[in-house]
Amino acid sequence: MNIEQFQHDLLHWYEAEKRELPWRTDQDPYKVWVSEIMLQQTRVDTVIPYFERFIAQFPTVEALAEAEEEKVLKAWEGLGYYSRARNLQAAVREVQEKYGGKVPDTKEEISSLKGVGPYTSGAILSIAYGVPEPAVDGNVMRVISRILSVWDDIAKASSRKIFEEAVRQLISKEDPSSFNQALMELGALICTPTSPSCLLCPVREHCCAFHEGTIAELPVKTKK
Ligand code: ADE
Repeated sequence: MNIEQFQHDLLHWYEAEKRELPWRTDQDPYKVWVSEIMLQQTRVDTVIPYFERFIAQFPTVEALAEAEEEKVLKAWEGLGYYSRARNLQAAVREVQEKYGGKVPDTKEEISSLKGVGPYTSGAILSIAYGVPEPAVDGNVMRVISRILSVWDDIAKASSRKIFEEAVRQLISKEDPSSFNQALMELGALICTPTSPSCLLCPVREHCCAFHEGTIAELPVKTKK
């Protein structure tokens, strides 16, 4: 595959087609963090109004660190998985105390925060700080499995590293933020789990599964 051409085609499509989402209006690492935590188990359409209310109520690390837990849980009501909200506030308090309210910008420091796994740390580093780190969730694994014809089982925890290495090879060093978000957007809008819209896909020329006729077989996902 011609990686530069792939990056160009993907980024060009993303610039033209990306949805206007409230967490895409600036690169504030705190807002990126809140949005990525909310988006982990919840659909984009559901998250939008919650994100807007949450940021209006707790606009900064300092505001969330100082808030009463009860108010934070109230703002989360309806999103479910409340441990996400508790972990987020605990981690934000640590950022306030240990880093003076600035979300850290190294993998080691970010990953040590409560509730921040490899996906979230990669998303914050790339989207907010422009660091070429992969941010691999289920959608990105689906997209990458098809483009590169990767047959590792995405239900297995050990597969994540394989997909992270694949993204490391492909990621744009000039614009890691747009690149990672473009992979997510492609997974949401085009490269969907069933009946993907290959005829509209900006990178189908680069897609192994499209050429080999294996789109319907990928990704491999055994039941857990
Ligand atoms: N899903 C997970 N993260 C996302 C993001 N930043 N934008 C859109 N969908 C997402």
